[in-house]
Amino acid sequence: MLEFFTKLDDNDALVLLRKDHDKVKGLFEEFEKAENLRHKKKIVADAIKELKIHATIEEEIFYPTLRSKKVDKDLLNEADEEHHVAKLLIAELDQMDGSEEHWEAKFTVLSENIKHHIKEEEGEIFPKARNIDVDFVILGKKLQARKEQLMKNGVPSSAEEKMMSKQKKGSNDSPAQNAKKFSVSGKPVAKHLVKKPAVKAGAAKSKASTAKNGAVKNTMSKKITVKGSAAKKSMSKSMAMKNAKAGHKNMRHASR
Ligand SMILES: [Fe+2]
Repeated sequence: MLEFFTKLDDNDALVLLRKDHDKVKGLFEEFEKAENLRHKKKIVADAIKELKIHATIEEEIFYPTLRSKKVDKDLLNEADEEHHVAKLLIAELDQMDGSEEHWEAKFTVLSENIKHHIKEEEGEIFPKARNIDVDFVILGKKLQARKEQLMKNGVPSSAEEKMMSKQKKGSNDSPAQNAKKFSVSGKPVAKHLVKKPAVKAGAAKSKASTAKNGAVKNTMSKKITVKGSAAKKSMSKSMAMKNAKAGHKNMRHASR
């Protein structure tokens, strides 16, 4: 509220962050009006660059300052999560060239996420931040210095970018199609997210060696290192066969 009545310094941290917000909101509006792909691609590239820099200075400097002054933790956690979702979409867009069916939808969802984030930041976080005991001009200068550094040297890869780079290029065009494809084949959606079998090769080997059936040993040694569950299944099958044989033997013995 104070900002409506007081002329704030141009270096003020909140003024600077608000300028960034206005710039990306302008790009989102421009995208909605753009009529050709070339223009749209230019807007997407500009918006992504702005967003990467803005998110980095907030995460490196602004949010930690607010956290150190005990500004509403829940709001800041939410802001972190909104950044995370935005960075996932940005990482996917970075792997696309604009020809994909979902490219425009992805950028639209990114813009909606960011507009919501800006609304919460300006409406809830900034007013609370303004009350803390911090020199906002000094903070603003720090943000500006880091921003210039990032513009000159580039933004370091985010965790989300590293994660996405492991996925095959083009596999993220339609999330629904990807999910369908993976579920039909029975393969996990993301291999790197699936825990490896808890059965350790050594432990399983020792289990196999206690089974006197030679066939079990062979089966186990071939499959152990690949799929723990398959090895377990094979072992129980062999054990069942062994038990059936023993039962049969006992029956013959009893019948004598
Ligand atoms: Fe922001």
